[in-house]
Amino acid sequence: EKGGYDTFMEKEINDQPHAVGDTLLGRTDAEGRLVLDELRIDEDKLKQVDRITIVACGTAAYAGMVAKYAIEHWTRIPVEVSLAHEFRYCDPIVSERTLVVSISQSGETADTAMAVRHARSLGALTVSVCNTHGATIPRESDAVLYTHAGPEIAVASTKAFLAQITACYVLGLYLAQLRGQTYADDAKAVMAELHEVPAKIEALLGTMGRVEEIARFMADTRSVLFLGRNVGYPIAMEGALKLKELAYIHAEGFAAGELKHGPIALIEPGQPVFIVVPGPDTPNDLHKKVVSNIQEIRARGARTLVIAQEGDDEVLPFADEVIRVPHTSPLLQPLLTVVPLQVFALHLSTAKGLDVDQPRNLAKSVTVE
Ligand code: F6R
Repeated sequence: EKGGYDTFMEKEINDQPHAVGDTLLGRTDAEGRLVLDELRIDEDKLKQVDRITIVACGTAAYAGMVAKYAIEHWTRIPVEVSLAHEFRYCDPIVSERTLVVSISQSGETADTAMAVRHARSLGALTVSVCNTHGATIPRESDAVLYTHAGPEIAVASTKAFLAQITACYVLGLYLAQLRGQTYADDAKAVMAELHEVPAKIEALLGTMGRVEEIARFMADTRSVLFLGRNVGYPIAMEGALKLKELAYIHAEGFAAGELKHGPIALIEPGQPVFIVVPGPDTPNDLHKKVVSNIQEIRARGARTLVIAQEGDDEVLPFADEVIRVPHTSPLLQPLLTVVPLQVFALHLSTAKGLDVDQPRNLAKSVTVE
C-alpha cells in the first residue's frame, strides 16, 4: 500500500506528478478552453463576483496564499485569505457578490466548515476545493471543485497541497475566461504550461539525493529559517511548517522583504536559511532583490541553502548549497519550489528517528474547533 516506499509521506511526495496531472484532467475542451460545468453555478452569478475570500487552515491556507497572487493577477478581483478560525469571528465583510472559496484536503476540518456555514448565512456564494468526495464541506457548499490527489494518508500534507494550488489556478483562469478578461496572461497558454508541470516535478524528484544528504547532516539543527517573496513567500511558510510538524525543529518562514524590518537580527554564524529564489524572469526585479537578500545574510554568516531555477548563476557567489528546480513561469513556480522543502523535512525527520507519517500531537483531520 506504500507502493514500495518506507513511509506514506515518501510515497505521497512521489505521487505529486499525478496529483497535479489528475487535477488538470478533464477541465479543458479540445480548444484548450476551461470547462467547469461541474460547479453547477449560474454563470451570471460568477460574473458578478466582486470579491473573493479564501478560507482554510494550515497548509491549505498556504495554498490559498499562492492562489491569491495568481487569481488577482488574472482576474483583477480582490482576493483575501483568511484563516478559517479567524474569519468566523472577525465580523467579515461578505455580500451576495462575495465568492468564498474554502480549501480543505479532508473536507472535515471543523474550523473551515464553520467558516463556510457562516459565509453562507451571510449570503456569500461558496465553492469548496476539496480532496474527499462527499465530505462535510463540499456537501455544505454551493459548489465543489475536487482535487484529484487520491487519498492522503500521512498526517503532513504534501500532494494535496500541490493539487489545491493547481485547482485554484484552474478556478482563477476559469473566472478570468468567464469574464472575458484575461487581464494578464492568456488562459490557454497558462493551461498549456500547467500541463508540462507534472513531467517537471518528476524530473525534479529524480534529483533530490543531495537534499536528502543535507537533511541527514542537519539532524542536530535547532532552528531553520525560510525566506521567499511573492508566491515564494507562502512556500517559505510551508517549508517551515513541514519542518515543525515532522522534525520538531523551530522553523520560521518570512517574506524576504521583511528581513531588514527585524528578522535579520536572528542571523548569526552558522544559522541555516533556505531561500526560495524567484525565477530571473519574475517582474519587478524581484529576482535581483532576493539575490541581494542572500548576499546580506551570507555576509552575516548564515548558511544559505538556495532553491533556484536551472541556469540561474547569479545566486552562485552567495550560496552554500544550490538546489535546482526546472523553469516555469513565475506564478506556477510553487508547484516545483516546495518539493525540495518537503523532501528536506521528510529526511530530517527520518534522520532523527521520528515517525514521519504520524507526528506527535497531530491528527490527520481536525474535527473539533
Ligand atoms: C499540514 C497539515 C495541516 C492541514 C490543515 C487543514 O501538513 O496537514 O496544516 O493542512 O489541518 O486540513 P484540511 O486541508 O484537511 O482542511
